[in-house]
Amino acid sequence: MENTKTSIKNGFNYSGSKFRILPIIQQYLPNDCKIIVEPFAGTFEVSLNTVYNKKIYNDKNYYLFGIIKVLIELEPEYIINEIDEIIYYYGLSKDNKEGFLKFREEFNERYSKHLFSSDEDYKNMSFIKLLTLMYYSFNYYLTMDKNGRFINTSGYKRSWFNDSLRNKLERYIEALHCCDIDMYNLDFNDFYNKTKNIKDCFYFIDPPYLISDDIYSRTNNLKWSIDDEIELYEMCDNIDKSNCKFMLVNQLQKGDKTNVYLRDFSKKYRVINTDVNFYNCNYQRKNKGNDKEIIVINY
Ligand SMILES: C[S@@+](CC[C@H](N)C(=O)[O-])C[C@H]1O[C@@H](n2cnc3c(N)ncnc32)[C@H](O)[C@@H]1O
Repeated sequence: MENTKTSIKNGFNYSGSKFRILPIIQQYLPNDCKIIVEPFAGTFEVSLNTVYNKKIYNDKNYYLFGIIKVLIELEPEYIINEIDEIIYYYGLSKDNKEGFLKFREEFNERYSKHLFSSDEDYKNMSFIKLLTLMYYSFNYYLTMDKNGRFINTSGYKRSWFNDSLRNKLERYIEALHCCDIDMYNLDFNDFYNKTKNIKDCFYFIDPPYLISDDIYSRTNNLKWSIDDEIELYEMCDNIDKSNCKFMLVNQLQKGDKTNVYLRDFSKKYRVINTDVNFYNCNYQRKNKGNDKEIIVINY
């Protein structure tokens, strides 16, 4: 319990956020570690809601990683100001689908290549544009194709940079700026191999869910496979052997599907039920009664 602070939400409604179970996560955070390590960090929302001295970020999604890096490295006023200028230039609003389409087309034709530029200024500006595109697209999804083009559709009447998001983004950037963060953009296995000798670590592990709709594969060509799932549990066992602590969040049951790899793995450790129902989280779900998300800890 001591290892918590007031709640920070990610600044762009990222799907996969664990905000709804944050109180349970916080209740079980270990107090005797100095560093929190997230191999599947996403928005880093969980780490930001802890008071560990040092935080280590990793996510394989190049575009998400790039956005978070920009939010960490640039001044908050500069970022918000740039977003406002883009909104003004394209006339972006809740109802202006044409403005969004024009912005998306120009982004894909002129700016998306700069996401890979070695010129930091060009690169940073393109990531801010990408973030702004997200704010006006369907469900705020960061959906890219294999060539680095943004392909999500307009969030017409549903997604826009409203006051609540502006507020969240400001607080989120502030929180990112307050931490000592190391950043990696690697597959979780390569990341673990690079960081495994660091002492006093607590690993918070929030992978894609094997038995759920694989949003990260649909939106970012990051296919989560059974091999990944098996390697994930090997990594957890190795963390345990190295005398570090881990907390894994995963979905055990979805409708009539069971994650048998998780079921078998979890028998070796301590399991906490999150008792979360998914009613509000996935409007496509049909079998509403049987979903079960669990937390597994080795301490
Ligand atoms: C459930 S989300 C994590 C959400 C995060 N806890 C948050 O609060 O934003 C899983 C993350 O794993 C990343 N990912 C998917 N496959 C990966 C891999 N092989 N290695 C590392 N990260 C991966 C995705 O990009 C996604 O951000």
